[in-house]
Order: sequence, then structure tokens, then C-alpha cells
Amino acid sequence: MKQRSRSSNRSDALVLFGVTGDLARKKIFPALYAMAKRGTLDVPVFGVASSELTDAALRKRAEESIGEAGPVDDRAALRKVLSALHYVQGNYNDASTFKKLKAALGSARRPVHYLAIPPALFATVIESLGATSLAKDARVIVEKPFGRDLASARELNRIARSVFPEDAIFRIDHFLAKEAIMNILYLRFANSFLEPIWNRNYVASVQVTLAESFGVEGRGAFYETAGCLRDVIQNHLFQIVALLAMEPPTYRSFGAVHGETADILQAMRPLVPDDVVRGQYEGYRKEPGVAKDSDVETFCALRLFIDSWRWSGVPFYLRSGKALASTAAEVIVQLKAPPQRLFDDSAAVPQDADYFRFRLQPNSAIALAVRVKRTGKEFIGDRKELVLIDERPNEESPYERLLGDAMDGNGSLFTREDAVEAAWAVVDPVLEHHHRARPYKRGSWGPKEADALIAADGGWRNPGEQAEERPVQPR
Ligand code: BG6
Repeated sequence: MKQRSRSSNRSDALVLFGVTGDLARKKIFPALYAMAKRGTLDVPVFGVASSELTDAALRKRAEESIGEAGPVDDRAALRKVLSALHYVQGNYNDASTFKKLKAALGSARRPVHYLAIPPALFATVIESLGATSLAKDARVIVEKPFGRDLASARELNRIARSVFPEDAIFRIDHFLAKEAIMNILYLRFANSFLEPIWNRNYVASVQVTLAESFGVEGRGAFYETAGCLRDVIQNHLFQIVALLAMEPPTYRSFGAVHGETADILQAMRPLVPDDVVRGQYEGYRKEPGVAKDSDVETFCALRLFIDSWRWSGVPFYLRSGKALASTAAEVIVQLKAPPQRLFDDSAAVPQDADYFRFRLQPNSAIALAVRVKRTGKEFIGDRKELVLIDERPNEESPYERLLGDAMDGNGSLFTREDAVEAAWAVVDPVLEHHHRARPYKRGSWGPKEADALIAADGGWRNPGEQAEERPVQPR
């Protein structure tokens, strides 16, 4: 894959719709600060939102949010971010907001518009950008979820494409810019030893867990419109599965990766209600912005099949949730047991010994678990992990990287129209038709029904518990 390079038609202004929102506070301001530290924040930033704010008040908010994200150890970089910020107040449904923005942008010719706003407003803002000729030579970054089902994603793609060319549309999935996730692609295709076993003949099952120990944290109103399936599974977890399961890209370009991603998402079998377990943590209904009788899921586990030659019959288990026992993300690629139990300990040991483990967060690790013999006369062994890497990389934050890439017009780590729609097609049948959300205790691993879903494949491995050996029922 090609290295990034700074483009000659880099965006000359950044417009941040939703500048007073949660995403700006948690991720975008800290990313701007990181860019300033690295010397890559070289454009004015126009924040748009409906609240009455002055430039000074916006700068204060930005400073607070940067301070919340970590120690401010570079005052010059902080000053750079704050002096780049300008506020444009207005309602997104009002044409005058866009006129004000146009005036504020002044001589900027190639702005990038970042829609960090509620998904219901994406289309309105994109159309208004088109109507006020703010889309000309511009780029647009659209946050996830891109649409709320297949039909609305198609419609949003149609609207976005009627205003911007495809190469000016940047659909964000920030997981694609995480080091450990990029390493899945690298490990799979920078080595040849994996390819012979990376298929239904050797892989018994795959599981992906994205766990968060915190709740919806003030995002109750947004969460009520989304739920876990739309918030992280249709996008972040499916992209992880795509990288794990895709065919080798046939040429050296991210265009090839995008093609393979779309193909594998298209091969995923649409879900049915019995494939999905939805859960809701106790106390969620008391969160601000949440309905007293809400059935929205804060936890979701599912069993997925990919109907391809390579993956026929291999279950992929995915789960994610808020208010779980820890904050961590991990992938386990479970290899099949040897066909014969030859050794003294064979009957006693679990048959799920061998696996690949990709720890995605908070640290980045790749390990291969195998059985090795203990010293002595008897043929008895232990499962050992061969750890290939285990580090906390001092990485560019995903948002810093993606903002820079979008400003350079580099769409490598963004999602393509067909991939987004294919992912919606998989979840579409269960968005409305599903079993009720089961309650679970805060700090647990979700409702017990989720365990039943994967019981035939040895159960979930909770991140951090991989050293423990557990017996498994033969399938
Ligand atoms: C976001 C979701 O896309 O991803 C959040 O909306 C979730 O609900 C977050 O917490 C997880 O991403 P990260 O990078 O903070 O682990």
C-alpha cells in the first residue's frame, strides 16, 4: 500500500459542523491539538453550531476539551489551535447559516466540511452546502452511522453524490485508522504462512469483542436513535471482520482493499432475529434523554456467517456493549483441534487450544496460542502464547490521521459507498424485528443469553482472560 504524502490540493479551511457536540469535545479538538503539535494544522477552522457563542467562548471550550484529553505540554500548539478557531452561529435548517459560513470562509477555495452532527441532519447540511455553492472543489467528511438502515443509507449516498463527487466524500469509520486494526491487514498479507490455514479447513470460529466499561455518558438522546447495533457493530465491528475475512487484494492500492472489503460484506448472510442477542444495562432508562420504557440495546451479540468458499460454515461471533466488565477490544481466531487425540493429556485438555489473538485496545497485541510439551517422560503439555507484539504504540490518534488524510484528499482509510450499503443490508432485517433487549448488570459481560449464542463454540473469551484454559464441548 502506498505511503501517505502531503497533497498539492490540500484543503485550505476546515469547517466543523457540530462544534459544540460530544464528538468535537472528545475527539476532534484533541486531534487538532495533536496536529498543531506535529505542525500539520495550517488552516483556519470554522466551528458551526446553533448555540449563541463568541469566538472566545468557543476557544475556551476547545481549551477545556484539550485539557480533558491529556496534559497540555505544548502551549504554542495550544495557542495555534485556539487562534485558528472561529465560530459561525446558525441553525442547519436555515439558509442564512450557510451564507454566513460562506462569508466567514472568505478566500478559502477548497474547504473540507466535517459533519460531526446528528445523522438525521447529514442530508440537510449536504444539500445546503450544494445550494450555497460551498461544495465546489470542497470535501465532506460524514460521521457514522451513515444512514440508519439500508434505505436511508442509499438515499444519503444519492444526496451526497448529487452534491459531491465520490472522491470528495469521506465516510468516517475511525476504527480503520487504529494501529492494531491496520495490523490485521498487514499481518495477513505481509506473510505467506497464514494463507493456507486462514479458511474453513483450519478455522473453527472467530470472535470479536468490543467492550466498554462506561455507559452512554450524556449521549442518551443520540443512543436512543441508534443502539449498539447501529452505533458500533454495523460499522466498526464489521470493518474488523472484513479485514479478517477478505480475500487478498490483487494489486497494491487501497482501491483493491476497498473492493475486497465490499465483496466480503456482500457475502455476509443477512441476520435473522435468532442470530442476535440484545441487552440493556440496568439503569440505562434513568440516563438523561432516554425513554422510561426504552428497548434500545446497549449491548449486542450476534452470530454471523459469510457465504463464501473460504468461510462457509465458520461462525463469526461479534459482541459489544456499554457498562461491561472492562474497556478492551479483542479478536480471537480459533483454530480447529487436531483430528486425533494422541497424547496422555488429550482427553483432559481443551480442544480449543490453538488460536490467534489480536488485542485491539487499549494496547495492541498479536499472539498465537499453541500447546507445547512439558519437560518429563509423560506427553503432557500446556498452552502457551507466542506473543508477536504487545505494546501501547505512541500512535497518531485515528481522528488526527483521518482529518489529515481527508484534507489531503486521501480516502484510503475511509469507507466506500458500496461497502456501507452492503453492511446495512446484513443488519437491515433485524433493525426492527428482534427479540426484546435483556437486562444485564453494570460491570458484567452482558446478558446470559449471549453466552448461549456461542456455547457450541466454547464460549466467549473475555479480553484479558485468555490465559485460562477452559474445556469445550465438541461441536
Ligand atoms: C464510536 C461510538 O463510534 O466509537 C461510541 O459512537 C464508542 O459509542 C466509540 O464508544 C468507541 O471508539 P473508541 O475509539 O473511543 O474506542
